[in-house]
Amino acid sequence: MISTSRIVIALSALPLAFANYPLMNGTTTSTVYPTGTSSPSPATQTVSVGKDGLVFSPDTVHAKTGDEIVFEFYPKNHAVVQADFNNPCNPSTDEKRIFSDFIPSAVGRANKTFTIKIEDDKKAIWLYCPQNNPKPHCVQGMVMVINPPQYAHNTLEAFRMKAALVTGNATVPLGGASGGKVASPGTPSTPSDAPIPSGSSPTESTGAGALLAANGVLGTMALLAGLAL
Ligand SMILES: *[C@@H]1O[C@H](CO)[C@@H](O)[C@H](O)[C@H]1NC(C)=O
Ligand SMILES: *[C@@H]1O[C@H](CO)[C@@H](O)[C@H](O)[C@H]1NC(C)=O
Ligand SMILES: *[C@@H]1O[C@H](CO)[C@@H](O)[C@H](O)[C@H]1NC(C)=O
Repeated sequence: MISTSRIVIALSALPLAFANYPLMNGTTTSTVYPTGTSSPSPATQTVSVGKDGLVFSPDTVHAKTGDEIVFEFYPKNHAVVQADFNNPCNPSTDEKRIFSDFIPSAVGRANKTFTIKIEDDKKAIWLYCPQNNPKPHCVQGMVMVINPPQYAHNTLEAFRMKAALVTGNATVPLGGASGGKVASPGTPSTPSDAPIPSGSSPTESTGAGALLAANGVLGTMALLAGLAL
């Protein structure tokens, strides 16, 4: 029983690890669609912060309750803060407000990531970058949304337009990181190396293994991105 479930878990981690990263030699793997109903375990999605200019990539994410979103940071110095829709570029009044704190990088992907877990996929999460040097990134349009409301005028474009009208600087939250976990991913590993406690939920191990395995691919991409900048 245990060995069977181990194999299933190890195999199920593989598509996660390479989701969204087509292999160079044309071998493709299936992309994870977290909004699907058949997915048995939480999914992990990655958002690049500042990799493609003053933007989050992607800037709209659909995720289910229990899913994790991993933020990866690029030069020079960005952060992720949760705002309320009606008050962009200012920290949300939500007591569980998300704040990654600033995560700098000189070249390529930063050596730290910030991971949040979706607690309620019915609730939109509006985010901005609070960096104001040399100009306010939020006002420049560096905003994003997780699970935008489906039937409402509260769209990402509306949020971005509100942000553009903010005068002065974006507000940097007081205190350190909150609403998520800052981690140093460390050296790449294979999913099968991750210890899987028998009889317990495999989700943590699977997620960590997938994250670590993806690091090798992402590290290469980060290097390429660094050269391009
Ligand atoms: C393609 O690359 C993958 C990953 O490096 C490798 O496992 C696979 O054998 C390669 N396939 C071919 C046809 O080269
Ligand atoms: C992580 O990156 C920051 C910013 O580039 C740097 O100051 C720090 O020394 C790095 N830490 C490690 C352990 O490499
Ligand atoms: C906005 O932030 C920048 C960078 O931190 C700072 O130099 C500037 O003085 C701030 N402007 C205001 C009006 O606070």
